[in-house]
Amino acid sequence: MHLSDLGHDVVIVDNLSRRRIDEELGAQSLTPIATVEERIAAWGEVSGRRLGFRNLDVARDFDGLLDFLTEFRPDAVIHFAEQRAAPYSMKNQRTKRYTVDNNVNATHNLLVAIVESGLDVHVVHLGTMGVYGYGTAGMKIPEGYLDVTVQTEEGETVEQQILYPTNPGSVYHMTKVLDQNLFAYYAKNDELRITDLHQGIIWGTHTPQTQRDERLINRFDYDGDYGTVLNRFLMQAAVGYPLTVHGTGGQTRAFIHIRDMVKCIQIALENPPARGERVRIFNQMTETHRVRDLAELVGRISGAEVAYVPNPRKESAENELHVANDTFLSLGLEPTFLEEGLLHEVEDVAKRWADRADRSKIPARSLWTSAQSEGVPAGEK
Ligand SMILES: NC(=O)c1ccc[n+]([C@@H]2O[C@H](COP(=O)([O-])OP(=O)(O)OC[C@H]3O[C@@H](n4cnc5c(N)ncnc54)[C@H](O)[C@@H]3O)[C@@H](O)[C@H]2O)c1
Repeated sequence: MHLSDLGHDVVIVDNLSRRRIDEELGAQSLTPIATVEERIAAWGEVSGRRLGFRNLDVARDFDGLLDFLTEFRPDAVIHFAEQRAAPYSMKNQRTKRYTVDNNVNATHNLLVAIVESGLDVHVVHLGTMGVYGYGTAGMKIPEGYLDVTVQTEEGETVEQQILYPTNPGSVYHMTKVLDQNLFAYYAKNDELRITDLHQGIIWGTHTPQTQRDERLINRFDYDGDYGTVLNRFLMQAAVGYPLTVHGTGGQTRAFIHIRDMVKCIQIALENPPARGERVRIFNQMTETHRVRDLAELVGRISGAEVAYVPNPRKESAENELHVANDTFLSLGLEPTFLEEGLLHEVEDVAKRWADRADRSKIPARSLWTSAQSEGVPAGEK
């Protein structure tokens, strides 16, 4: 909608798998989500602009994807189409395999289809900060590439840039690592123009476009699989459920507001790499916070209590996170900070829809290792 509003012709390609996973989990967005057809009609009414829609499984229907590209001839593809929940990806052998099959094939099919089509398409991919892992040697995480100095056998010193070493924390994050290698290969071999956005955790619900009609509201997931940490705290505060902090809450994470996310995509589209250039990697985040600090902040605003519960994930109890995000800032991004938008989210979104909440879906039940299901904390078996 943000891009359509700017005058671009946009077609959505989606197989509606996210809606099917809601049914499988018996969970739903806190905000009511209209059908795709209703949403597209609502956008047409408020903007006078038409969004196209093609129901297509990008991971499995290669021919359909190639036909679509050849017919529509896009200047750019914004690639969102992946299973995006780390807890869902860790649930069981089926969801692990589904996440890898779906995400890696979706990305690879897209790249092969672009090569096959002969079109010069700029691919903008939504990756994750999670490809880096969350610990560093103390420096800022650079935007994708690390400066290294190596010694040759002759004793010469050579300086190079390499992809920052990856350290994914779940099967989902691992698929984004695999994506990264696919991108590097196709940028080198076929000179595809690719931008990979290593994004932090989204918070916030509205963009200026979704606010124009209630039927356009975005998802607000709060369940143990798909709910992201801050949204979960906001919803828990709104329904009077203690804020569930996993472990010590010493995990530091990167965040970005949803309206900054759409702006970043616009900026990435307006600054494509040239053919033959390596993959452009931007860190798409605006601030970092420790989880327990976030819980305290939401608690202060709302009066909610904080509950420390066992961590279902296998990860360091505490970590520092320093991230370089100079590219977007230098290209004009003006961040929305947590302090400005948090109260609005509690009052106007979480409380507004609190009667739709199903409290039984709040606990995070997906465990990272089999040892944890036997009651042994991660790392102690
Ligand atoms: N939400 C976040 O905090 C966050 C953070 C970092 C990165 N990301 C990335 O941003 C992208 C969008 O995330 P989101 O939160 O909007 O998730 P989402 O699940 O709402 O959007 C992904 C969409 O892709 C579709 N999809 C999945 N597999 C498909 C396939 N094989 N063919 C066609 N469509 C398919 C789903 O139906 C869904 O509508 C994802 O790639 C995600 O990994 C999200």
